[in-house]
Amino acid sequence: MLFEKKKRLIDSGCFNGITDYHCHILFGVDDGINELSESLSALSYYESLGVKRVFLTPHINLTYNNISLIERNFDILENRYNGDIELHLAAEYLLDSGFEKQIKQGLKCIKDNMVLVESSYLHKSANFDETLFQIANEGFSPIIAHPERYLFMDINKYHELKNCDYLFQLNLLSLSGMYGIQVKRRAQYLLENNMYDLIGSDMHNLELFKDHIREIKLSKMKHRSLMLIFNQLC
Ligand SMILES: [Fe+2]
Repeated sequence: MLFEKKKRLIDSGCFNGITDYHCHILFGVDDGINELSESLSALSYYESLGVKRVFLTPHINLTYNNISLIERNFDILENRYNGDIELHLAAEYLLDSGFEKQIKQGLKCIKDNMVLVESSYLHKSANFDETLFQIANEGFSPIIAHPERYLFMDINKYHELKNCDYLFQLNLLSLSGMYGIQVKRRAQYLLENNMYDLIGSDMHNLELFKDHIREIKLSKMKHRSLMLIFNQLC
């Protein structure tokens, strides 16, 4: 298996009919895409890949939390977009001191009750475990965004979180090495051990995404694992 031929992901047709569960292509609301025209270009690129559904998940944290702006820009995008991709508004919540307020005001969920959450990359958010427990206790299903990027976690922690039935979302570009070799290795480990439930682009910039997606090459086995995840919740 040492010399197994790897296939370029972008040439595999695997994006046909898939859902992107995590992206920042809603214009003007966070550190993602700025202009409406760029949002439309990203959707047009998704169409060329065959993407079927997109959950737009702007950051909500102490810096970005203008919910009425998010809702207004989503309405504008929905009105201007003429293509076939289903658009849904959700959010990516940072588990910071502002999250308590968000949960009281009502969370923007993926498919009724799934809530996409992230931690700081440098250190585990304060009350990370307690907040996840609280989210689950209130009837939501937490999706942990890009767990492979949390280098402060060890392998046992990943297994502990999975044992709590929390969902894991893979950032596709983690497999390209865009976030560094350690993140890539963790993503490969979590993929090989069937620990991911959903996949997202986490796209903030279309050109950057296009550059890096071309670099992902996968063995047959990893490609099969990825396809299973793409298909299980579509
Ligand atoms: Fe994100």
